[in-house]
Amino acid sequence: MKIFTSSCELQKYTLELKRSGKTIGFVPTMGFLHDGHMSLIDIARQKSDVVVVSIFVNPTQFAPNEDFDRYPRDFDGDVAKCAEHGADVIYAPEAAEMYRADASTWVEETVLSQPLCGISRPTFYRGVTTVVAKLFLLVQPDFAVFGLKDAQQCFVIQRMVRDLNFPIEIIPAPLVRDADGLALSSRNRYLSADERARALSIHRALLAAKARIMADKSSIKAAAAEAAAAITAAGGRVDYVDVLDCETMKYPEADAKKIILAAAAFFGTTRLIDNEIFEI
Ligand code: PAJ
Repeated sequence: MKIFTSSCELQKYTLELKRSGKTIGFVPTMGFLHDGHMSLIDIARQKSDVVVVSIFVNPTQFAPNEDFDRYPRDFDGDVAKCAEHGADVIYAPEAAEMYRADASTWVEETVLSQPLCGISRPTFYRGVTTVVAKLFLLVQPDFAVFGLKDAQQCFVIQRMVRDLNFPIEIIPAPLVRDADGLALSSRNRYLSADERARALSIHRALLAAKARIMADKSSIKAAAAEAAAAITAAGGRVDYVDVLDCETMKYPEADAKKIILAAAAFFGTTRLIDNEIFEI
């Protein structure tokens, strides 16, 4: 497995791979890898000749009051897991390598990024689309795999790729959970045992709301309010529970096909997100 920290050297290498006709599958991450990330690497492995994983805690997607400085890191552990799952290349730049001090260009998606996390984290998606666009140009992938744990992020990236004509297929990958239902996340590491137990309420509340909406389409608002109340009752501080049309990321019209029921809530100081996507 090759490890690059230099953007120029990585891009030279991937352009050479492309010239020799190899397909490249790409999994962008912020490291502290868990089985959710590994499932994306497995998908990329099946589809491509060469699998590239990036490990970069991207400063531009964190607001000043967020957890950039304490975001968990375990580079050696990440390298071992990538090797175990057959990745060929790791790209792990320093922030100064990724961003020039006087960088002044942003990539911004302006519709799908507005609701849900876009409300409480107004600069988040701009940071994500900018870094992912840069990573795409450095890695030159044919395929890039994004987890539906961060479904809104995946939709925003699909829109960016469509609107800017990146010659890349975005592959959405299923959300991976722990055996007890908690969505795997690098941030679960912050939770005390008590907070973790209480945080299970998020998935439970989403499943109950999903069942109610499937039984009665007109109950969307009531089901979301009930889910928010259940998470609050378990000791969570709800950021949002919302139901949107996956296509438009707006309130579902009568002809909506696929909807996302999404929640974000704090347990202690840890912000967790989860969702259920289903047809109605
Ligand atoms: P990170 O949170 O490390 O996630 C990297 C990828 O792993 C994302 O596509 C995310 O959706 C996926 N993922 C995380 N937990 C998952 C789970 N439980 N099941 C399935 N997939 C899961 O998302 C980011 O990093 C960053 O915003 C990034 C795209 C790398 C840009 O900086």
